[in-house]
Amino acid sequence: MTALSLPITTERLTLRRFRLDDLDDLYAYQSLPEVARYLYRPPLTREQCAESLTRRAADQAWTEDGDDLVIAVCRTGDATVIGEVVLKLANTRARQTEIGWIFNPAYGGRGYATEAALAVASLAFADLGTHRLFARLDALNTGSANVCERLGMRCEARLVESHLDGDRWGTECVYATLAHEWKANQP
Ligand SMILES: CC(C)(COP(=O)(O)OP(=O)(O)OC[C@H]1O[C@@H](n2cnc3c(N)ncnc32)[C@H](O)[C@@H]1OP(=O)(O)O)[C@@H](O)C(=O)NCCC(=O)NCCS
Repeated sequence: MTALSLPITTERLTLRRFRLDDLDDLYAYQSLPEVARYLYRPPLTREQCAESLTRRAADQAWTEDGDDLVIAVCRTGDATVIGEVVLKLANTRARQTEIGWIFNPAYGGRGYATEAALAVASLAFADLGTHRLFARLDALNTGSANVCERLGMRCEARLVESHLDGDRWGTECVYATLAHEWKANQP
């Protein structure tokens, strides 16, 4: 990967680049309606997952607005991909980075998403020079809001009915933290 040196390990997890042979694992969660529920898009087909993997497995640049790095999350000692954390370069000059996470619900409720997101957020500040890290999520997505709060991000905005999700008006929440705040909060 161009911008990050992977793999890295946390207490329970290994974070690595995606590989082409991760297709079954990726499809296992990206195909689920419950996973796509608040992503403002339908679940992915197997073909869409395969296409996405081709991009994810290639060297991912981190130089221009819109570049993203998608990181596979596995439990250490088990090659199965249980989820992903993505960083997106939203504004190169202002060093604004968006973070997001998608996990297989079969591995939910064990703190894996929070553990992986903490590690990736640290990389965003330490290795990618991020000034402000933010997340955007549907106001009904309490699982995701809880991850933001466990990361110490603050809710900065609530954009009422700013998205049309099928025939439902979606309210978007924006959470964020700054580099100096992140540093001050680390043990
Ligand atoms: C958002 C998402 C990643 C959250 O998953 P999650 O399982 O709730 O999050 P974590 O893996 O961090 O697990 C946290 C839970 O594990 C519990 N837990 C159990 N053992 C734990 C441990 N050893 N360490 C930490 N937490 C632990 C926590 O108490 C917490 O439970 P709670 O939410 O009831 O308080 C998941 O719902 C998801 O992938 N959703 C679909 C995609 C999506 O919407 N992504 C966000 C787009 S903005």
